[in-house]
Amino acid sequence: MAQTMRTHDAGTLRAADVGSEVTLAGWVGRRRDHGGVIFVDLRDASGIVQVVLNPDDAPASEQELNSLRMEFCISVSGTVRLRPGDMANPDLPTGEVEVVAAEMAVLSPSETLPFQIDDRTEVDEAKRLQYRYLDLRRPSMTANLRARSRTIRAMRDVMDDLGFMEIETPTLIASTPEGARDMLVPSRLREGSFYALPQSPQLFKQLLMIGGVERYYQIARCYRDEDLRADRQLEFTQLDFEGSFWGQEDVLSTLEEVSIRVTKELRGIDLDRPFPRLTWHQAMERYGTDKPDIRFGMEIHDLSGVFAETGFNAFSGVLASGGSIRGINAGPLGLSRSGLDGLSSRAQELGAKGLVWMVTEEDGGLRSPVAKFLSDREMEGLVGTLGAVPGDILLLVADETRTVLEILGLIRLEVGQSEGHDELAYLFVVDFPVFERNEDGDFVALHHPFTAPVDVREMSENPGHAISKAYDLVLNGSELGSGSVRIHDPEVQAKVFETLGISDEDAERRFGWFLEALRYGTPPHAGFAVGVDRLVAILQNAPNIREVIPFPKTQSGADPLTGSPARVEDEQLRELGIEVRPEVRAEWAAGESAGG
Ligand code: AMO
Ligand code: AMP
Repeated sequence: MAQTMRTHDAGTLRAADVGSEVTLAGWVGRRRDHGGVIFVDLRDASGIVQVVLNPDDAPASEQELNSLRMEFCISVSGTVRLRPGDMANPDLPTGEVEVVAAEMAVLSPSETLPFQIDDRTEVDEAKRLQYRYLDLRRPSMTANLRARSRTIRAMRDVMDDLGFMEIETPTLIASTPEGARDMLVPSRLREGSFYALPQSPQLFKQLLMIGGVERYYQIARCYRDEDLRADRQLEFTQLDFEGSFWGQEDVLSTLEEVSIRVTKELRGIDLDRPFPRLTWHQAMERYGTDKPDIRFGMEIHDLSGVFAETGFNAFSGVLASGGSIRGINAGPLGLSRSGLDGLSSRAQELGAKGLVWMVTEEDGGLRSPVAKFLSDREMEGLVGTLGAVPGDILLLVADETRTVLEILGLIRLEVGQSEGHDELAYLFVVDFPVFERNEDGDFVALHHPFTAPVDVREMSENPGHAISKAYDLVLNGSELGSGSVRIHDPEVQAKVFETLGISDEDAERRFGWFLEALRYGTPPHAGFAVGVDRLVAILQNAPNIREVIPFPKTQSGADPLTGSPARVEDEQLRELGIEVRPEVRAEWAAGESAGG
């Protein structure tokens, strides 16, 4: 691209450029002084090159040269030369050359930095977010931003190739049920009324199908008022898509296409297809979770049969009360006795009654705190079922089956993921249940209430066991995305609302408009949404999604840079017909007098 302020990008200079007159502009990364000569790492978006400022060449006034500090924004004109042989830096793409400055100008000085801008220095995250504009200058952050941009471009390319139309849907909408709390926006024109920000474009994309669009996609911003975690933000981005005259297989093959292209773009790897698949039931039984990390085995096995006649009270008691005993073969973990006991305590922290460890000995026997309670037949059964060889560590939990699976699933991740697996394991989980029970024992939609059940009659008769046409995409143990075949029959939709305990009147009031739309020749349709932040984070090996979001919120939902969320003027509230409760105002006042 033609540039007026510079002739080259710093990171692009190579030995072939030796002798060229160049003008560069960027930031002072590092400054070193050697016998009066100043060496500066000049960094721009393309990378870094070494610049030599020799006072004898008078590239700038002495005062200017002396004042030069980290992160000053400067421009340099000079000549590219080879670095003297032993000074070459093989770690830097530009490491063979340097630019000898004939002229240097400070475009913008910088204050003393709140932290070092490099990838080596650990900085408190709140500080990083407060000065995100500086944090973004770090090479790893630049790389993450670029990876995100390339991901989204690759997604747009695939969707375009496959004939999808990119369509925007509104972000000021009526509240719809997706399972999280809505973010609300008060209306000034209609005091006391609120828009909701979309938790996803779910109902709009279904309306587009009714509208005859057939292939829709969008890079959609979604908003959910949830408790934040490493892989959750209040606002996040989805690759959202939907197709008409479509079923599950059309969606999954589109997802393979997208994953293959994005993975190739970011990692240069060719993925095999079809991706492996597990039913939800298999995933729960074998991995204790609906998002298994299948980069390693350590599958969960049912050992209840082995212990059917056990004399070990902790186990027989659990079996008598309808629970089960299950275990994993964790392999040779290299843990000491206290490390193994640590796993027991960890399982208890996670909510298990206990966890038994056993070490397989050379003679096929088992060493364990509970070995004295086990018969030879039980030991043999254990070793056989878990395929144990000498040195393998077996971990067993006895409890209510749900608890056993959950705990072993978590323990499996803790002992398995620490092995450091670099590969990418994409996986489809299919055949999710239609409903799950919430804490109050009521049915809630496991995906969302617009998901089609496999069998409508079964759903009415036995909602707790009904299977839906919902599926997830999982990568390395993270839920990357979810989707489903949708209900296109208003009667079925009404039945689902009924099972969810939403009365006819309630459904009519909240979704009457949608139930009506379904009555105008709705095509069968299906779709999906991929969490873009999660995908980029995993492909970039980032520890959390905040690393791949330019301006994320902290775990408490705040932005330390701009100070959001913030109070607003009383006048603004008045216009919106909103009053802040006196107790809240009193808290503000207390906070202020306390200096907060
Ligand atoms: P779902 O609610 O499962 O499905 O969301 C799809 C994907 O979006 C990502 N995601 C998030 N990422 C970051 N922060 C969050 N708070 C967050 N919440 C969700 C996840 C998740 O798998 N409308 C349906 C999709 C459909 O049926 O087509 C939906 O939104 O990666
Ligand atoms: P106790 O006899 O209760 O002291 O338990 C002896 C061992 O069995 C300890 O290592 C406990 O952690 C373990 N244990 C007790 N209950 C269970 C259980 N429900 N599942 C797995 N291990 C258990």
